[in-house]
Amino acid sequence: MNDIKSREDIITVVNAFYDKVNENEELSYFFNDIFKLDWDLHLPKMYDFWETILFHKPVFKGNPMKKHIMLHQIAELKKENFDTWLRLFEATVDGLFKGDLANQMKIRANSIATAIQLNTVYQKK
Ligand code: HEM
Repeated sequence: MNDIKSREDIITVVNAFYDKVNENEELSYFFNDIFKLDWDLHLPKMYDFWETILFHKPVFKGNPMKKHIMLHQIAELKKENFDTWLRLFEATVDGLFKGDLANQMKIRANSIATAIQLNTVYQKK
Protein backbone atom coordinates (compact mmCIF):
# COMPACT_ATOMS: atom_id res chain seq x y z
CA MET A 1 0.00 0.00 0.00
CA ASN A 2 1.31 3.47 -0.92
CA ASP A 3 1.33 6.70 1.07
CA ILE A 4 -0.68 9.75 0.03
CA LYS A 5 1.48 11.85 -2.28
CA SER A 6 -0.69 14.07 -4.48
CA ARG A 7 -3.97 15.93 -4.83
CA GLU A 8 -5.17 12.93 -6.86
CA ASP A 9 -4.66 10.73 -3.80
CA ILE A 10 -6.58 13.21 -1.63
CA ILE A 11 -9.43 13.14 -4.16
CA THR A 12 -9.47 9.32 -3.87
CA VAL A 13 -9.74 9.46 -0.06
CA VAL A 14 -12.31 12.26 0.06
CA ASN A 15 -14.58 10.66 -2.56
CA ALA A 16 -14.43 7.27 -0.82
CA PHE A 17 -15.12 8.89 2.57
CA TYR A 18 -18.20 10.84 1.44
CA ASP A 19 -19.50 7.70 -0.32
CA LYS A 20 -19.43 6.08 3.13
CA VAL A 21 -21.06 9.17 4.69
CA ASN A 22 -23.86 9.00 2.13
CA GLU A 23 -24.47 5.35 3.00
CA ASN A 24 -24.58 6.14 6.72
CA GLU A 25 -28.00 7.37 7.83
CA GLU A 26 -26.75 9.07 10.99
CA LEU A 27 -24.33 11.35 9.08
CA SER A 28 -26.15 11.57 5.79
CA TYR A 29 -28.98 13.31 7.68
CA PHE A 30 -26.78 16.37 8.35
CA PHE A 31 -25.40 16.63 4.84
CA ASN A 32 -28.41 15.73 2.73
CA ASP A 33 -31.50 16.42 4.87
CA ILE A 34 -30.41 19.45 6.91
CA PHE A 35 -27.92 21.21 4.64
CA LYS A 36 -29.11 19.73 1.32
CA LEU A 37 -25.52 20.00 0.23
CA ASP A 38 -24.52 20.42 -3.39
CA TRP A 39 -21.87 17.68 -3.50
CA ASP A 40 -20.30 19.09 -6.68
CA LEU A 41 -19.41 22.19 -4.66
CA HIS A 42 -18.64 20.51 -1.33
CA LEU A 43 -16.21 17.86 -2.59
CA PRO A 44 -13.74 20.25 -4.32
CA LYS A 45 -13.77 22.35 -1.12
CA MET A 46 -12.72 19.27 0.83
CA TYR A 47 -9.95 18.46 -1.70
CA ASP A 48 -8.66 22.02 -1.17
CA PHE A 49 -8.98 21.71 2.62
CA TRP A 50 -6.84 18.58 2.75
CA GLU A 51 -4.35 19.86 0.18
CA THR A 52 -3.79 22.90 2.39
CA ILE A 53 -3.39 20.76 5.52
CA LEU A 54 -1.20 17.99 4.07
CA PHE A 55 0.81 19.86 1.43
CA HIS A 56 0.74 23.37 2.93
CA LYS A 57 -0.69 24.82 -0.27
CA PRO A 58 -2.91 27.84 0.43
CA VAL A 59 -5.82 26.75 -1.77
CA PHE A 60 -8.57 26.32 0.86
CA LYS A 61 -10.87 29.25 1.47
CA GLY A 62 -13.37 28.60 4.17
CA ASN A 63 -14.15 28.65 7.84
CA PRO A 64 -14.93 25.13 9.06
CA MET A 65 -15.31 26.18 12.70
CA LYS A 66 -17.93 28.80 11.85
CA LYS A 67 -19.76 26.36 9.52
CA HIS A 68 -20.00 23.61 12.15
CA ILE A 69 -21.08 26.02 14.90
CA MET A 70 -23.83 27.17 12.56
CA LEU A 71 -24.75 23.58 11.71
CA HIS A 72 -24.90 22.73 15.44
CA GLN A 73 -27.35 25.59 15.99
CA ILE A 74 -29.65 24.19 13.30
CA ALA A 75 -29.30 20.48 14.16
CA GLU A 76 -27.50 19.51 17.36
CA LEU A 77 -24.21 17.69 16.80
CA LYS A 78 -23.46 14.98 19.36
CA LYS A 79 -20.25 13.27 20.45
CA GLU A 80 -21.57 10.06 18.85
CA ASN A 81 -21.80 11.79 15.46
CA PHE A 82 -18.13 12.79 15.65
CA ASP A 83 -17.20 9.25 16.75
CA THR A 84 -18.98 7.86 13.69
CA TRP A 85 -17.40 10.50 11.42
CA LEU A 86 -13.90 9.62 12.69
CA ARG A 87 -14.50 5.86 12.52
CA LEU A 88 -15.55 6.10 8.86
CA PHE A 89 -12.72 8.51 8.05
CA GLU A 90 -10.03 6.30 9.61
CA ALA A 91 -11.44 3.18 7.93
CA THR A 92 -11.37 5.01 4.59
CA VAL A 93 -7.75 6.14 4.92
CA ASP A 94 -6.60 2.74 6.25
CA GLY A 95 -8.32 0.95 3.37
CA LEU A 96 -6.48 3.00 0.75
CA PHE A 97 -3.12 4.33 1.97
CA LYS A 98 -0.36 3.62 4.47
CA GLY A 99 2.46 5.92 5.59
CA ASP A 100 3.36 9.19 7.20
CA LEU A 101 0.87 11.41 5.34
CA ALA A 102 -1.89 8.83 5.73
CA ASN A 103 -1.22 8.94 9.49
CA GLN A 104 -1.09 12.74 9.43
CA MET A 105 -4.47 12.85 7.76
CA LYS A 106 -6.03 10.76 10.56
CA ILE A 107 -4.27 12.73 13.31
CA ARG A 108 -5.39 16.08 11.86
CA ALA A 109 -8.96 14.85 11.44
CA ASN A 110 -8.95 13.84 15.11
CA SER A 111 -7.59 17.16 16.37
CA ILE A 112 -9.98 19.20 14.23
CA ALA A 113 -12.88 17.02 15.39
CA THR A 114 -11.85 17.72 18.99
CA ALA A 115 -11.63 21.46 18.34
CA ILE A 116 -15.06 21.51 16.68
CA GLN A 117 -16.56 19.52 19.57
CA LEU A 118 -15.14 22.00 22.10
CA ASN A 119 -17.05 24.73 20.27
CA THR A 120 -20.26 22.75 19.81
CA VAL A 121 -20.93 19.56 21.83
CA TYR A 122 -19.04 20.77 24.93
CA GLN A 123 -20.17 24.41 24.94
CA LYS A 124 -22.06 25.42 28.05
CA LYS A 125 -25.38 26.88 27.00
C1 HEM B 1 -20.33 15.05 13.18
C2 HEM B 1 -19.37 15.34 12.31
C3 HEM B 1 -19.53 16.28 11.15
C4 HEM B 1 -20.65 16.65 10.46
C5 HEM B 1 -22.07 16.18 10.65
C6 HEM B 1 -20.22 17.62 9.46
C7 HEM B 1 -21.06 18.24 8.55
C8 HEM B 1 -20.70 19.23 7.66
C9 HEM B 1 -21.59 19.93 6.77
C10 HEM B 1 -23.09 19.70 6.66
C11 HEM B 1 -20.85 20.82 6.08
C12 HEM B 1 -21.34 21.78 4.99
C13 HEM B 1 -21.57 23.16 5.46
C14 HEM B 1 -21.71 24.10 4.27
O1 HEM B 1 -21.03 23.96 3.26
O2 HEM B 1 -22.49 25.04 4.35
C15 HEM B 1 -19.48 20.67 6.50
C16 HEM B 1 -18.41 21.39 6.01
C17 HEM B 1 -17.09 21.14 6.29
N1 HEM B 1 -16.63 20.18 7.15
FE1 HEM B 1 -17.74 19.02 8.37
N2 HEM B 1 -18.86 17.80 9.56
C18 HEM B 1 -18.39 17.01 10.58
C19 HEM B 1 -17.08 16.88 10.99
C20 HEM B 1 -16.01 17.43 10.35
C21 HEM B 1 -14.63 17.20 10.70
C22 HEM B 1 -14.12 16.32 11.87
C23 HEM B 1 -13.87 17.93 9.82
C24 HEM B 1 -12.37 18.07 9.74
C25 HEM B 1 -11.54 17.12 9.62
C26 HEM B 1 -14.78 18.60 8.91
C27 HEM B 1 -14.40 19.44 7.88
C28 HEM B 1 -15.26 20.23 7.14
C29 HEM B 1 -14.83 21.29 6.24
C30 HEM B 1 -13.39 21.68 5.92
C31 HEM B 1 -15.98 21.86 5.70
C32 HEM B 1 -16.07 23.03 4.71
C33 HEM B 1 -16.10 24.31 5.53
C34 HEM B 1 -16.22 25.57 4.73
O3 HEM B 1 -16.71 25.58 3.61
O4 HEM B 1 -15.84 26.62 5.26
N3 HEM B 1 -16.06 18.27 9.26
N4 HEM B 1 -19.41 19.70 7.48
